[in-house]
Amino acid sequence: MPVTSQSSAPLRRARVVPGGPLLVEGPLEVSLPSGEVVRSNRFMVAICMCHRSAVYPLCDASHKSPRGRRRAGGTAGEDRKSSETS
Ligand code: FES
Repeated sequence: MPVTSQSSAPLRRARVVPGGPLLVEGPLEVSLPSGEVVRSNRFMVAICMCHRSAVYPLCDASHKSPRGRRRAGGTAGEDRKSSETS
């Protein structure tokens, strides 16, 4: 079934990587249930689907590690920004 946009906004594409992240065209803001908003200015943003990332909701490739093991350290750096408190 073809996908059509109901608005004049450009249609963004997302692609599920089997066993990995959801790749979404950026820039992008992700709103978490906690109210935190994570922003990425990358042209392609990898959203963690396995919940093992140390920089969740962004993928840090922990999905490639043996089950239950996270990569040490790391943050999303400039990609991880703010909460919606302002
Ligand atoms: S999908 Fe890559 S760390 Fe979760």
